[in-house]
Amino acid sequence: MTCNLKSRHLIFALLAILFFGCDKSDQPHKFLVGFSQCNSAEPWREAMNKEMTQEAGKHSEIELIILDAQQDNSKQVSDIENLITREIDLLIVSPNEARPITAVVEKAFDRGIPVIVLDRKVYTEKYTSFIGADNRLIGEAAGKYTIELLGGKGKVVEIWGLRGSTPAIERHEGFRKAISEVEDIEVIYEQDGAWLRRRGREIMENVLQRFSDIDLVYAHNDPMAIGAYLAAQNAQRPGIRFIGIDGLKGTEGGIKAVATGMLDATFVYPTGAALAITTAIKILKNEKVDRNITLQTQLINKSNADENL
Ligand code: FRU
Repeated sequence: MTCNLKSRHLIFALLAILFFGCDKSDQPHKFLVGFSQCNSAEPWREAMNKEMTQEAGKHSEIELIILDAQQDNSKQVSDIENLITREIDLLIVSPNEARPITAVVEKAFDRGIPVIVLDRKVYTEKYTSFIGADNRLIGEAAGKYTIELLGGKGKVVEIWGLRGSTPAIERHEGFRKAISEVEDIEVIYEQDGAWLRRRGREIMENVLQRFSDIDLVYAHNDPMAIGAYLAAQNAQRPGIRFIGIDGLKGTEGGIKAVATGMLDATFVYPTGAALAITTAIKILKNEKVDRNITLQTQLINKSNADENL
């Protein structure tokens, strides 16, 4: 009995040493990566979140938190404040609009948190790496394709993305630069559609009532282009061409919309989400990364939509 008690004490003591004496620093440290997403409700951003979560799941050394600002600048500011308070090791941010989000990104960077800016820019040099496609180039390609489709002559409607976001500004500038090369292409109407399909449709419904002669709609993303197409379809106004941007795969995506003839063309706009994670890991391991990582685009039209579905 005495012996039993003694050995039991011994076992307890050993267990206690094992349990409490175990040095926590022996366990691999997990880096906390915070992603401030501007609006998870849009299809392209859903794809982005999914790709990022999948890639993060392959790397046990990081833990990923995604906060959704729901297209609200002040929510995004407080989301980033929240991530700073949670002592994240690295911030990934896709800003809703550039100006209102700039100061809080600078604040994170000034606290020593490395920052990856993803797809939409901020107006500061205080970031570690920018990952995204060249929106001015995409706008220009859309403009050149417009000239080709219309044989250098026609009336165009431009549906903008959110005006304070840099892709909208750059897609606009690139497009206008390209079409300014020809005299007879005229933009008869432009409006901010906030990147939303519903807004694209509403804008187009009004435009169709105001203008009897429309040759092409250039929308800064596919959801707005599809919304505009549906409005024209509903109003029985055939013959209008539609160009969008994003080129998502899948049944609801822009490539399918080209394949089925809703859109005449789209430009693939990669999310860069997986690359953001692998770049984050490099930064956290003190490896060198490029300050600007430019993703490639691709024109999708009737000729290659099926093979890219
Ligand atoms: C989604 C989205 C995409 C677009 C990108 C530009 O929020 O509107 O459709 O290509 O953002 O930042």
